[in-house]
Amino acid sequence: MNYLLRGIGVLTAVGTVSLLAFSLPSGVAHGDGGGDVMPRLTHKNWQQECASCHLAYSPALLPRASWQRLMGKLDNHFGDNASLDPATQADILRFLEANAADVGTSQIGRRVMRMGAKDAPLRITDTRWFVGKHDEVPRAAWSRKSVGSAANCAACHSKAEQGVFDDDTVRIPK
Ligand code: HEC
Ligand code: HEC
Repeated sequence: MNYLLRGIGVLTAVGTVSLLAFSLPSGVAHGDGGGDVMPRLTHKNWQQECASCHLAYSPALLPRASWQRLMGKLDNHFGDNASLDPATQADILRFLEANAADVGTSQIGRRVMRMGAKDAPLRITDTRWFVGKHDEVPRAAWSRKSVGSAANCAACHSKAEQGVFDDDTVRIPK
């Protein structure tokens, strides 16, 4: 699907508040309260290389130091080999750094930092922000066959690939 179409999908899903947000250059996430929408970002190498095994996790979900650690050891990436040629790796790292939780301008990033992500976690799912957002998910649900692990956002968030994580699009599978 091209990004224009994806964008339209997101707009119809979350309404006019996001229409406003999406017209800002850095794609600011929309307000407190209702749903959480990841900043809309496009970057060729990131989308090509970091979305083949899982969705392209928003850089706003981890601080810069986390991305540096993670990109520094792609040959042992959570048990997988996700190595890249040095130029592509450096290009993706620059993009991740520029949009990281403690650098970018997204509200989600500010919240991740406010919850304290200063110890450079390698996993989004280890941040206090993530744990807090999911305190109502029964522990057993994470390891269900239909889910696999907490990192499999799309198992429960049907519009995760479009960056939409609001209550209307979430359902824990049986
Ligand atoms: C060869 C497959 C593969 C590729 C390519 C890959 N990953 Fe991963 N990634 C994984 C696996 C496997 C996990 C662990 C998933 C789990 O715990 O269920 C993971 C987990 C992650 C996590 C942690 C998720 C969590 O638990 O919060 C991040 C962040 C991440 N990857 C970023 C990236 C980035 C950035 C790239 C591109 C440079 C990338 N990945 C490319 C396989 C891959
Ligand atoms: C086992 C199912 C499941 C998985 C997997 C999962 N989530 Fe969630 N998520 C939920 C539930 C349930 C809620 C709570 C919805 C609510 O309370 O409105 C939630 C809430 C959220 C929220 C807050 C939405 C809001 O309206 O405040 C965000 C953001 C979010 N998840 C992101 C993620 C990300 C990113 C991943 C993957 C790294 C992920 N989730 C993985 C089930 C899941």
